[in-house]
Amino acid sequence: MAPVRIGIIGMGGFAGSHHNAVNKLEDQGHARLICTCDPHLAAFTLSREKWRFAERGVRVYDNYRAMLDAHHGQLDFVVVPTPINLHAEMHAAATALGLPVYLEKPPTLDHAELEQMIAADAHARKSSLVGFNFIIEKSRLALKERLLAGEFGAVRGATLSALWPRPTSYFARNNWAGRLLMGDRVVLDSCLGNAMAHFVHNLLFWAGGAELFSWAQLAAVRAELYRAHAIEGADTFFVEADTTAGVTMRFALSHACAGPSTQLEMVLCDKATIRYVVGKQIEVRWADGRVERIVPEHFDPLVENHLDYHRYLRGEGARPATTLADSRPFVALNDLAHISSGLITSIPAPLVSRLRDDKDQKDYLSVPTMATVHENFLVRGAWPGSTGWERATGEVATPADLARFHDVVRAMAGRQDGLSAGR
Ligand SMILES: NC(=O)c1ccc[n+]([C@@H]2O[C@H](COP(=O)([O-])OP(=O)(O)OC[C@H]3O[C@@H](n4cnc5c(N)ncnc54)[C@H](O)[C@@H]3O)[C@@H](O)[C@H]2O)c1
Repeated sequence: MAPVRIGIIGMGGFAGSHHNAVNKLEDQGHARLICTCDPHLAAFTLSREKWRFAERGVRVYDNYRAMLDAHHGQLDFVVVPTPINLHAEMHAAATALGLPVYLEKPPTLDHAELEQMIAADAHARKSSLVGFNFIIEKSRLALKERLLAGEFGAVRGATLSALWPRPTSYFARNNWAGRLLMGDRVVLDSCLGNAMAHFVHNLLFWAGGAELFSWAQLAAVRAELYRAHAIEGADTFFVEADTTAGVTMRFALSHACAGPSTQLEMVLCDKATIRYVVGKQIEVRWADGRVERIVPEHFDPLVENHLDYHRYLRGEGARPATTLADSRPFVALNDLAHISSGLITSIPAPLVSRLRDDKDQKDYLSVPTMATVHENFLVRGAWPGSTGWERATGEVATPADLARFHDVVRAMAGRQDGLSAGR
């Protein structure tokens, strides 16, 4: 079996993780890195030595278009693990040359731009993959099969609680962190749109239709968006969504917290509740009191997702785990949450504590009551705005309201000028 031939755009940040994964796959004979690029080549002298580019015959560029022009005929696909606002143009450049893309999540956070990307993807030889890591977990797929077979009864609701503390320095790590816009392009970087996007997409997967690879379709969304950090976007989300199948989903996510990172996906069915903590704990709690525990498999997300995509490209798998079209509900949820919320409210100052972690020399802004506020929202439907966070819940936003998305984002960013993003 010939190794799959790959080009990676970028070397730092998460692109470095793709280099590590592809390096490993190359050692095992599954892949071959043909070329890579980064505009800041000088910053990667040591990494280039570590990855033995010269020895492996990897061609290195400082411009992705030059790299694609020179090597597109030798590639099976291109990896795009770059800043969100560059995804669409890089995906367009690769697909125009017939090349499918392993595109890091989120594909884009602009629903109109996503439609343009779906259209562009038709030029590629095969469908692109969006790198939502956890859809292909064996334990997830097996549970979803059982759910679809009716073993747990009808799905009545689904909730996600996700608390991932981030130091204040996290929002200064690059020029797009926490931004709503970059120039005239939508970024909308946030805990929901970026860092914890996997779990949001997972929850939509649980609540999908009759097919295994299907995601919930949204009928209406209500949201309250907040920030504790001095950023343009939101670092705390409370979102309630009704699906077209009549299931109510609730999402509570925040970076304004402290302690260990936690997340819990819950699927509430007539006969049982599924509790799924990626990599840690998977349980089916039956209504009759039985508890079924499933041991999560060892899972290296990047290596496994690369291998799964390689199988699809070789014709051995029916589809990529998540296509651009499969990402529509996730992008719509994010956009409708912004439209519904209408504004991003500062969490009242007395509720926010500043903590210094002397060990890692980092500062955190944390709402000590955040876990309780999450629980009150997810379990009881109590919105923080009406219980001390001083705002009204957002209006109901439906897919028809997506037409207002760019105006809402522009107003949130305090901008008077027009946006070209996704238009
Ligand atoms: N799947 C996951 O678990 C996971 C984890 C972290 C990040 N991500 C995703 O990976 C993507 C990148 O995030 P990041 O935090 O690493 O971003 P980043 O800002 O660190 O950028 C990554 C790399 O892209 C390079 N780059 C920037 N402009 C470029 C250009 N014009 N041409 C070529 N390279 C360019 C940067 O130099 C950098 O090396 C995002 O979509 C993010 O959401 C995914």
